[in-house]
Formats: sequence, C-alpha cells, structure tokens
Amino acid sequence: MNTIELKPGIYSVGIVDWNSRSFHGYAINNGTTYNAYLIIDEKITLIDTVKASFSEELIERISEIVDPKSIDYVISNHVEMDHSGSIPAVMKLAKNAVIVTSSPGGKKGLIAHYGDAYQYMEVKTGDTLKLGKRTLTFVTTPMLHWTDNMVTYCPEEKLLFSNDAFGQHYTSNNRFDDEEELERIMYELRHYYANILMPYGQQAKKALAAVKALDIDMIAPSHGIIWRSHIKEAIEAYEYYAEGRTEDYALVIYDTMWHSTEAIARSILEGFSRRGTRAKLLDLGKTPLSDVMTEMLKAKYLAVGCPTLDSYITPNIGAFLTYMKCLSPKNKLGFAFGSYGWSGQSIGIVEQMLKDMGVEIILDPIRITYVPSEKQLKDIEDRVSEIKIM
Ligand SMILES: [Fe+2]
Ligand SMILES: [Fe+2]
Repeated sequence: MNTIELKPGIYSVGIVDWNSRSFHGYAINNGTTYNAYLIIDEKITLIDTVKASFSEELIERISEIVDPKSIDYVISNHVEMDHSGSIPAVMKLAKNAVIVTSSPGGKKGLIAHYGDAYQYMEVKTGDTLKLGKRTLTFVTTPMLHWTDNMVTYCPEEKLLFSNDAFGQHYTSNNRFDDEEELERIMYELRHYYANILMPYGQQAKKALAAVKALDIDMIAPSHGIIWRSHIKEAIEAYEYYAEGRTEDYALVIYDTMWHSTEAIARSILEGFSRRGTRAKLLDLGKTPLSDVMTEMLKAKYLAVGCPTLDSYITPNIGAFLTYMKCLSPKNKLGFAFGSYGWSGQSIGIVEQMLKDMGVEIILDPIRITYVPSEKQLKDIEDRVSEIKIM
C-alpha cells in the first residue's frame, strides 16, 4: 500500500493484512487493514497504530514522511490490540511522545497491556488538543465496542477518525470509497457491524447522534476503506442496524447428519416462499458463522434445525447458538426443527436456547423421526406458509 495523503499534511500510514482470514476467531473473507494516520503540524500526531506483527512496516511508512522520533502525540482511540499493538514500537523511538486516550478506560486498558512507563493524557468528550493550525476534539463512544472506545475529530479538516466504527474487513490497493464498488464495501460494512457491533445498538445510536452533529466530509476508520463520497450511505446503514430494524426475510439455518434435517429445511424454505417471504437456506456445515450473522442483521425470521446427536445438539449448532448469543440479535421471530432417531432432545434444546435469547417462538417445534415422508414434508411446507404474525 502506497502512503496516501488524505488531505494536505494528513497521511494514511497503516498496513494491509491481505491474507488474514480470521479476526479473533471469526471468518473474514477478504483480509483486513489496520489503518493509522499521521498528521503533520506543529505537533506531529499519530492516530492509532497497527497490530504488533506489523510494527516494522508502520515505522517504515512513518519514516517515509517524518522521523518517528519527532512524534509528539499518539492518539489511542481504542485499546484493542489491532490498534494499540504497535504502541511499544512507536514509543521506543518517540520517547517523549504523549499518549492521548480516553478517561478512564483508555488509560487503564493501555497500562494493563503495556505498563505505566509512558506519559498519558486522558481525555473526555468535548476535550480538545491544539496541534498548531489544526485542533483535535474527542468524543468517547463507550461500549462501541469496548469501554474505552473514542473517536477523534478534526474540525479544520472536517475529518473524523472513527476507529472501529464505519470500518470494514476489506482489502484493496485503493483507499477511498469512490474507488471501489459501492455495493461491495456496503456489504463489508454490514459484515463488520454484524460481527463486532451488533450487541451495541443503543450505544451506536448515541454515537451516531454525536457524529451527525459534526461537520464531516471524510470518515477515516481503522479498518478498510475511507469514506468521502458515500458518508451519507454509511451513516444511514448504521442507523438502520442500530435500530434493530428487520425485513420480511427468513433464514433457514440447519445442520444435518444424513440429510433428513436438510429435507425439512427445504420444505420450510418452500413454505416461506409460498407466503411471499424472501428466504435463504444456510447449511452450518458449509457456511461461516460470520456470514450467517451478517444475514441475520436484517432477517425477521429464523428457523433453526438440528438433528439429535446422541442426546444433545451437534457441534455446528452449538457453535452457532453460542456465537448468536454473544451477538444478541434483536427483534427475531423463530422456531426449531430437526430429525431424530429415538429421543429427539436437540429440537427442544434449540427452542429453549432461542427463547433464552429473546427470540419469539411463532411455530411449534417440527420433530420428525428418522426420515421425513413426502406427506410430512408437504405438511411442514403448509404450516410454514400459513404462519400468521399479529
Ligand atoms: Fe475493536
Ligand atoms: Fe479494530
């Protein structure tokens, strides 16, 4: 990635992690970037760093513009190590730099990770820092998605450094939204929101209100593409997700051992089709959980199918329900289904786990012994097509 000037004197100095396919455990299909930004002013300022394993590359990129020793401020918008991991490498060179971070979460978190040998400046919402001809203003965004998160705004440049917010796990040799296919980056924006920010809709709403009060012509997140031509679309998408809005869209999510639960899933899909609901079949044996959760963001209906394995659920369904519980999607209607040999505990377990996650059950569980007959499959299709929602 060539070093790119976002605005005169403001550079992108982060790195592209082309081949990463897992972000702390969930699948990312297109790699990611760790974006960091350098502001050249009377005070030389670095906004965020990158994952520790890319420290050398970050230092090289900074060195193409200034001597890293001359950095005065390191703004740490977020303690998570994909953004703070290279702070030790930077501070080793920039010995007199002050780390600017949120109070109290940022300082506490950074000390827990890197010790208390550095100089810290703690900031709260509304605090400002004069760099010379430019100013930085800070807005804390707690639990979006850690306690320490904040965003940094430069009013003179109408530029928001939004850290994880508005990020995408997406790689390209381009840096700006208008250099990429909009549909593609909007999907990656949704994928990121679903897998990182979904549990925090209420906090996202508050942060969006603060962001909308700012005069912005560029949003520079810490992952993926920088927004300059489609800021409105990105903010509107976040508003939609934060409100927990859903569409007339059904996901039929299942695991299968000998294709019986799969056959039921296909009948359920047909039932949704007959009632005019857009629907998608998702086999957990073949679909990454991060893609399932991305679909779930807009889905109103969930049908979750699991065969009984011994006396419990299958590992794929167990992993899915655990991940779903972490991300706690809102406003879902659903039901459980599955095939079994003799005891059939899995279907009741899945139903109970859905209920525990706040899913409103709209159909009695569908339980089939061994292999569903044609008549049973037709009956399932009819029952699903006749679901009435009050
Ligand atoms: Fe993060
Ligand atoms: Fe991040």
